[in-house]
Amino acid sequence: MSKPVVLIAEELSPATVDALGPDFEIRRANGADRAELLPAIADVDAILVRSATKVDAEAIEAAKNLKVIARAGVGLDNVDVKAATQAGVMVVNAPTSNITSAAELAVGLLLATARNIAPANQALKGGEWKRSKYSGTELLEKTVGIVGLGRIGALVAERLAAFGVELVAYDPYVSAARGAQMGVEMMSLDELLAKSDFITVHLPKTPETAGLIGEEALRKVKPTVRIINAARGGIVDEHALAVALKEGRVAGAGIDVFASEPCTESPLFDFESVVVTPHLGASTAEAQEKAGISVAKSVRLALAGELVPDA
Ligand code: MLT
Repeated sequence: MSKPVVLIAEELSPATVDALGPDFEIRRANGADRAELLPAIADVDAILVRSATKVDAEAIEAAKNLKVIARAGVGLDNVDVKAATQAGVMVVNAPTSNITSAAELAVGLLLATARNIAPANQALKGGEWKRSKYSGTELLEKTVGIVGLGRIGALVAERLAAFGVELVAYDPYVSAARGAQMGVEMMSLDELLAKSDFITVHLPKTPETAGLIGEEALRKVKPTVRIINAARGGIVDEHALAVALKEGRVAGAGIDVFASEPCTESPLFDFESVVVTPHLGASTAEAQEKAGISVAKSVRLALAGELVPDA
């Protein structure tokens, strides 16, 4: 009897294949390449992806045998969940696999923007010893505004508390009492924008959150604010941010995610005060191993017709 076919459409931890075990035929394809993806998905039982593969209605329609779409990460914004559900295809993800890695990167970007680590590194390697040019700011007693106090936002709060910052957050789904338990004062987005010395975004990308930190919001911040986005591209509007930086209405930014990825050109790249990374939030050995094992287990259960528990 032939084995169910699992298509691995992106680079995943080797632990993924180990966790799938011997009961499947494993195939590989470059999911970011549509011309390769569409024929490759045609007869597979499951597909495993990260963020580069768009498993949209067209791909789901092309996949005549598909039973499971597995996203080795938190977000599902590259999967058309509605189209999958209509086609009777299960969608699974690994919702806690990379939350620590994402939170740690956000804290790293925040520190990098506070202390000009990236431009100072670049200057020194270019032979320039410029101590006063790259003087920065302490975190102690500054206000950090967390936009989205879910799993990742909460980990960021926990870590930043050690720096002696004042933590405030905007999240319509978190009560003031729950925030207080985490040492965070809940407030409206407008209050947070006006008060924060650092703003870090930890929201999923939805029609409501796209462009949330855009032109209008960026007119409400302190000119000394530094903005971090290691969540999803487009929640912070890149063009509006570039204009605000140019006009001195924002002091700096740490940006890991872009509205369109891969992104190799952006107006943000022109600013020394902006540190950028290529969507590295989940890119640690630990997070990738956890994500791979988690989705492999879900695929095994789903293809065996068993219940897939929430992770
Ligand atoms: C996520 O949604 O968890 C990350 O974007 C995963 C990734 O980088 O592949």
